[in-house]
Amino acid sequence: MDNGISKRKAQRIEEKIAQMREDQEMEAVREIIEFNKTPFELKTDMDRFVIGQEHGKKIMCTAIAFHYRRLGQALKKGMADSGGDIDIALRNTKTPKANIMIIGPTGCGKTYTSETASNLVGVSFVHEDMTRFSEVGYVGQNASDILVDLLQAAGGNPNVARMGIVYFDEIDKIASETIAYKDVSGRGVQKGLLHMVDGSENTVHLGKERISLSTQHVLFIAGGAFENLDTIVKKRMARQGIEGDWRHHLTADDLVEFGMERQLVGRFPVRVVYDQLTIRDLKNIMTQSQGSALLAYTHDLKAWGIDLELTEDALTEVARRAETERTGARGLVSILHRVLLEDMYRLPGNFTGKFVVDQNTVRERLG
Ligand SMILES: Nc1ncnc2c1ncn2[C@@H]1O[C@H](COP(=O)(O)OP(=O)(O)OP(=O)(O)O)[C@@H](O)[C@H]1O
Ligand SMILES: [Mg+2]
Repeated sequence: MDNGISKRKAQRIEEKIAQMREDQEMEAVREIIEFNKTPFELKTDMDRFVIGQEHGKKIMCTAIAFHYRRLGQALKKGMADSGGDIDIALRNTKTPKANIMIIGPTGCGKTYTSETASNLVGVSFVHEDMTRFSEVGYVGQNASDILVDLLQAAGGNPNVARMGIVYFDEIDKIASETIAYKDVSGRGVQKGLLHMVDGSENTVHLGKERISLSTQHVLFIAGGAFENLDTIVKKRMARQGIEGDWRHHLTADDLVEFGMERQLVGRFPVRVVYDQLTIRDLKNIMTQSQGSALLAYTHDLKAWGIDLELTEDALTEVARRAETERTGARGLVSILHRVLLEDMYRLPGNFTGKFVVDQNTVRERLG
């Protein structure tokens, strides 16, 4: 009878999992249906995390708020029409979407903005490194890898995955004609993505399971540094006698000249150019961003009764050093770590109270 009990048990567990999935799905749909943040509100929330990039954040938040508001409203109607069947509602919901391309130097917040947006909206997020694709250059297999990742991020729930955000990092590395990457497979990889970005119906093979997963409502964001893209734009502007900031004059043609497939560029109609972070931005990131490494260290030390404080000069010194590294805000983490490592090792258990780090300390520690 052992077998019978375990069978019953197994069945109960399966039912429980199915119920949990259904609840999760219902919750995800409800969250989208009730999504009512205006672009302004979404940006206000975003400002707590992403510092600077004012112009870029406006465009991003507008595109994302519109996408999910539109999807939510359509889903609401779909749910009413289908008598509350999520599957049918999602299938019958037809909304146009505007995928986003973010261009900007390394470590300036492209991925961070996208991931923060997914958290704020409450949808799944996957991050795909496109350099992997140019190395392998095998299209079919990898495109479906992305869907498997998305499904995993959605807790194995296809209907949750269908409403998520997919972020293509280093999209510029699959350009076909760039000087640095003479990658013959780039073109093929780009073509392979078209279908998915468009919003196709796909079948994902997960072990023995075959799961159908449509990308129709998935928001795709592609980010890259696009080194020397500015030169291409500025040259064209000069040829055409156009004056002004190149970032406001970027066209699809410029991206095609860079080496992107026109068909792919056309599927990312919202284009955002992020700025190099200034010393002031870097300082503000340390003191204001909720994702700040400094705030995390401060918080950690507090647990040992230590109140860490960096003087204004010390903050400027760290920001200045990070700026010369040209790795954006990523530099802050390693520099702060180098500055504080010794104290974080030595102080807990030996010291309590206020601990001030000034400019001299920073200079000493960094040499
Ligand atoms: N504008 C910003 N405000 C706050 N934190 C930032 C900002 N930019 C970057 N960061 C911090 O630096 C980290 C790296 O940034 P992110 O991953 O967004 O870089 P990226 O622009 O995608 O660069 P890459 O082109 O190298 O992928 C983030 O996780 C975040 O902690
Ligand atoms: Mg990135």
